[in-house]
Amino acid sequence: MSHGNWKDMFKAVQENHVELIEFYIRQGIDLNYQHPEYMTSPLIESVRYNHLEITKLLLANGALPEIKEVYSNKSAVEIANDLGNNEAITIINQYLSPSKRLNIKIQKKSMKAVICTKYGSPEVLQIREIPKPIPKDNEILVRIYASAVNSGDVRVRSLDVRGLMKVIMRMVLGFSKPKKPILGTVFSGVVETVGNKVSKFKVGDKVFGMTGFNFGTYAEYIAINQKSNVIEMPNNATFEEAVAIIFGGQTAIYFLEKAKIAAKPNSKILIIGATGSVGTAAIQIAKHHKADITTVCSSEGLGLVNELGVKNAILYDKEDFTKQTEKFDIIFDAVGKSNKKQCRNLLTKNGIYKSVSSGYASETIQQLQLLKKLFEKRELRAVIDKTFPMREIIDAHKYVDTGRKKGNVVLKISE
Ligand SMILES: NC(=O)c1ccc[n+]([C@@H]2O[C@H](COP(=O)([O-])OP(=O)(O)OC[C@H]3O[C@@H](n4cnc5c(N)ncnc54)[C@H](OP(=O)(O)O)[C@@H]3O)[C@@H](O)[C@H]2O)c1
Repeated sequence: MSHGNWKDMFKAVQENHVELIEFYIRQGIDLNYQHPEYMTSPLIESVRYNHLEITKLLLANGALPEIKEVYSNKSAVEIANDLGNNEAITIINQYLSPSKRLNIKIQKKSMKAVICTKYGSPEVLQIREIPKPIPKDNEILVRIYASAVNSGDVRVRSLDVRGLMKVIMRMVLGFSKPKKPILGTVFSGVVETVGNKVSKFKVGDKVFGMTGFNFGTYAEYIAINQKSNVIEMPNNATFEEAVAIIFGGQTAIYFLEKAKIAAKPNSKILIIGATGSVGTAAIQIAKHHKADITTVCSSEGLGLVNELGVKNAILYDKEDFTKQTEKFDIIFDAVGKSNKKQCRNLLTKNGIYKSVSSGYASETIQQLQLLKKLFEKRELRAVIDKTFPMREIIDAHKYVDTGRKKGNVVLKISE
């Protein structure tokens, strides 16, 4: 029986299609084969989905309960234990030797998370029940209320980069799929538990933060070090607003600091790509520095740019901004569609050109502090295009994939 059929059978486990599984068993499918794309077993998947008729069927037909899935290194009974699924434990215990049987626990210790099962289109994202993290001594456990789907997330999911960059990204993120399978880099939520050595936060604090290459925010909970990039939320922000100001805000601060905006009050700045997450934040950060702003955006984006208080806009669908005669002290390409050579004639003598394509905007706690301060002073507002519940993660990624969102897309994790 081919391994292609195995994939179909695996899907049948997820969809609780008992008759189809019986059919594949009659055909002699290998129930203990671990497909390289999944690295788990149908038995484990039946437990995750709580499809216990199928769990019984698989065990009765030779599925081995000792098999461990690769990414968690746990067997079906251990996963049932993490999920607090006593019924599954009872079923699997019957097929284990007495020394390997697990005692039944009372408390549910699982959470929902979006798992990126491999690189590809949005459909590679799956919602699964996985063990809830337990904070270490220096960590806080945050119940996440909101995350955001950012351009960076869809790039990681799709591995949409060219040439050598693709090789580098695979080396950093994981060769065939992300090593850290829960994507998402920003969160807002409430501290639920604190580790023994935590002094910076207490239970009940409302916090927001960013995890960078540690990812992990498309989940109901995250355990993070108290000294990582997490601080108290702006006191006047909702969870959705707090999370929406992070990604673009942090990136805009990074590049505008590189352009030395603070040292040049009243500078003339051109912001190319002003309506995305980074662009809308860049406008507001530049305003904070009293810059004289001109933007490059589409006719469709003009209304938003005006709403953010900018009158000067060059509409890229009507004219070529590189043909302008005006000069700028800073040019910031917030969408990475230009290069320095194209923009050279638009720069003043000591003018500085920066683009999101030139280097990684590393995250710091100072950036979060500045965002909090500006939001509380109402100098910064959250630009939210759409909000999706976690169960619609695929649609959220499809929308961000278009590259046309205005501002930010929020992912609502908990009500
Ligand atoms: N280097 C780093 O560390 C770093 C960090 C963050 C982001 N980035 C990169 O920065 C870029 C922007 O990120 P983002 O999150 O702001 O993306 P985004 O929110 O998805 O940006 C979409 C916006 O860009 C506008 N746009 C598309 N093509 C344009 C063009 N030719 N000229 C002007 N505007 C255009 C779109 O409006 P219209 O459709 O109306 O034109 C839309 O509003 C991405 O490529 C991302 O990978 C880099």
